[in-house]
Amino acid sequence: MKPLLHPFFILLLLVIISTKNIPTCLCDDDEHYTNCNRTFSCGGSTVSNLKYPFWGGNRDQYCGQPQLTLTCEDRYPKITINSIKYRILLWNDTAQILNVARDDYWNGVCVNDYKNTTLENTPFQYQNSAGLANLTLFYNCPSPPPNLPNTPVSNTCGDKIVYFYVGQPNPVPCTIVVIPIFGTSARLVSGTGVNQALNEGFGLGWTGNYGDCNTCISSGGECGFEGEFKCFCKNGTSSTSCYDIGFFFSFLIITFILDQIPTSCCADDVHYQTCSSSFHCANLKSLSYPFWGSNRPEYCGHPAFKLDCTGKVATFTIMSQTYQLLEVSDSSPTLKVARNDYYNNTCPTILRNTTIGCTLFSYGSDSRNLTLYYDCPSLPFPQPDSFSPQFNCSVNGTQMINYFVMESFIENAESSFSEIFGTCNSRVIVPILESEAKVIETNSTAENLKAALDSGFDVEWDANNTLCDECQNSGGHCGYSPISGEFTCYCRDGSFPSSCKSGE
Ligand SMILES: *[C@@H]1O[C@H](CO)[C@@H](O)[C@H](O)[C@H]1NC(C)=O
Ligand SMILES: *[C@@H]1O[C@H](CO)[C@@H](O)[C@H](O)[C@H]1NC(C)=O
Ligand SMILES: *[C@@H]1O[C@H](CO)[C@@H](O)[C@H](O)[C@H]1NC(C)=O
Ligand SMILES: *[C@@H]1O[C@H](CO)[C@@H](O)[C@H](O)[C@H]1NC(C)=O
Ligand SMILES: *[C@@H]1O[C@H](CO)[C@@H](O)[C@H](O)[C@H]1NC(C)=O
Ligand SMILES: *[C@@H]1O[C@H](CO)[C@@H](O)[C@H](O)[C@H]1NC(C)=O
Ligand SMILES: *[C@@H]1O[C@H](CO)[C@@H](O)[C@H](O)[C@H]1NC(C)=O
Ligand SMILES: *[C@@H]1O[C@H](CO)[C@@H](O)[C@H](O)[C@H]1NC(C)=O
Ligand SMILES: *[C@@H]1O[C@H](CO)[C@@H](O)[C@H](O)[C@H]1NC(C)=O
Ligand SMILES: *[C@@H]1O[C@H](CO)[C@@H](O)[C@H](O)[C@H]1NC(C)=O
Ligand SMILES: *[C@@H]1O[C@H](CO)[C@@H](O)[C@H](O)[C@H]1NC(C)=O
Ligand SMILES: *[C@@H]1O[C@H](CO)[C@@H](O)[C@H](O)[C@H]1NC(C)=O
Repeated sequence: MKPLLHPFFILLLLVIISTKNIPTCLCDDDEHYTNCNRTFSCGGSTVSNLKYPFWGGNRDQYCGQPQLTLTCEDRYPKITINSIKYRILLWNDTAQILNVARDDYWNGVCVNDYKNTTLENTPFQYQNSAGLANLTLFYNCPSPPPNLPNTPVSNTCGDKIVYFYVGQPNPVPCTIVVIPIFGTSARLVSGTGVNQALNEGFGLGWTGNYGDCNTCISSGGECGFEGEFKCFCKNGTSSTSCYDIGFFFSFLIITFILDQIPTSCCADDVHYQTCSSSFHCANLKSLSYPFWGSNRPEYCGHPAFKLDCTGKVATFTIMSQTYQLLEVSDSSPTLKVARNDYYNNTCPTILRNTTIGCTLFSYGSDSRNLTLYYDCPSLPFPQPDSFSPQFNCSVNGTQMINYFVMESFIENAESSFSEIFGTCNSRVIVPILESEAKVIETNSTAENLKAALDSGFDVEWDANNTLCDECQNSGGHCGYSPISGEFTCYCRDGSFPSSCKSGE
């Protein structure tokens, strides 16, 4: 028996020594693993393998190096390096090479902000193995720049001319911008071919340590970073790999202890804990389901209710239209919202109808429709002072005469009005509050119009409210699973489809 006991005590010692590796709750780590196992998703992008050292979007911050944040725009993953935004064209995770193109030069060389590509103080270096060349651009030159080693090509940008060539800059009285391109793209640099050369981008090598990550991945883990490199395993977090001896045996012991006291470790599911607290967002306090955003994770809210908390007023976007969230009712699923494009502005550049009624929202009983007519002829007859439903806009350099009336007015109006309104170029329907509608009906002034639009309107929302009530009544917190895309009830002992007692 003794030879059998002996190694066991060594293991026990190892476990005690390596207590820092014991996961405090097994459920926590599983989530880190699952989160970092995802690749950065950017609707339809061809670059589909972005993982460590990158984070952003659907990858939490702990999945990557702090400064390597990705964003997704126009189906391109983008990264900002020394305050210049680049589109990511390719990521070779074997060689850690990132091919990028300048986002500001994506549509050509006519730009207003002149910035050189620089890599100082970044974890990147130029990937010279593929051969790079420098494209030098000369802006704001008084005349063709003199004393250049090569003859430059030129393009016009409005009433200005930009000169460029492949090669080093010379001191000339111009604003100079130097952008690397692939050596193989240099032959494209002629009139319009320069756009293609820029869009093919150039290669950057990531100088970080990928060896750690390779070790972690080959042991079945996912790489991450929390002050230092982390390897997230299915059953816990390690600093190197998932086969870490200390970790492995501490796991065994914990499993053993768990068997004795089955519910102690996972008593408070991490989703349950995270979603139990409310959050603040710009002008609004104590928000909870269906809202998320800022530091509240997506799984605590409904996908459509993502808030942007960076401005003075919280905003959210539905069908690519942004709304300000002015008030959230505590007692009923009602919100007061205002169109962002109409805030303190009756002349948006792009005229669009209100989209919010088409989705998870319905207009509140307190809403009335206001119609704005744009680009109209002037009224051939005079109006009384209290009825001047006219406002002027100068959009895209054109002066326009516009009118605003309530829907009820059009129904009862004399045919002369309908005829005039019928010849307007566009009309837009914006809901406003009943109380504001009454003001406009009795006293149509441009000032009252602005006030009505700024006051917003009421909408009722439904984000599986019945399920959420059921969940909350059973002691759970509402959320959505980003993986299944379905309503989820987070309970102390895990996640369930609708209530904590359902036990499914
Ligand atoms: C991790 O990702 C791989 C594919 O990248 C997938 O096959 C695997 O099922 C994922 N594991 C988990 C736990 O999600
Ligand atoms: C990644 O780079 C390595 C070395 O440069 C190369 O051998 C490999 O083919 C590249 N992989 C892809 C997918 O381009
Ligand atoms: C870009 O770099 C060149 C030298 O490489 C310099 O002459 C030029 O002023 C820089 N341009 C800007 C906009 O900083
Ligand atoms: C491009 O210019 C940078 C400085 O702006 C220089 O460090 C680099 O060597 C140049 N590359 C080539 C291929 O000439
Ligand atoms: C993780 O734990 C589960 C049981 O909780 C076990 O089935 C699985 O094999 C473990 N995975 C690893 C990699 O140890
Ligand atoms: C509203 O817009 C006007 C100019 O159109 C501006 O002077 C004013 O400061 C704006 N008010 C607010 C509250 O943003
Ligand atoms: C103003 O110009 C933009 C882009 O050129 C166009 O999309 C928009 O419809 C124009 N707005 C009006 C009111 O004509
Ligand atoms: C808004 O909707 C009305 C009717 O629903 C339509 O006549 C009008 O053209 C729409 N306006 C815009 C800008 O799409
Ligand atoms: C306002 O107009 C929309 C269509 O643009 C309609 O769905 C909605 O029912 C109208 N609201 C009222 C209060 O009439
Ligand atoms: C709009 O412009 C017309 C003529 O250009 C002018 O007579 C009218 O007073 C203006 N209305 C407002 C509200 O500024
Ligand atoms: C109409 O509204 C204006 C503010 O736009 C206000 O100054 C005026 O007193 C109001 N007139 C009446 C009759 O209420
Ligand atoms: C939750 O709501 C969505 C739409 O809002 C609906 O499609 C789905 O069926 C609802 N889920 C359940 C379980 O009722």
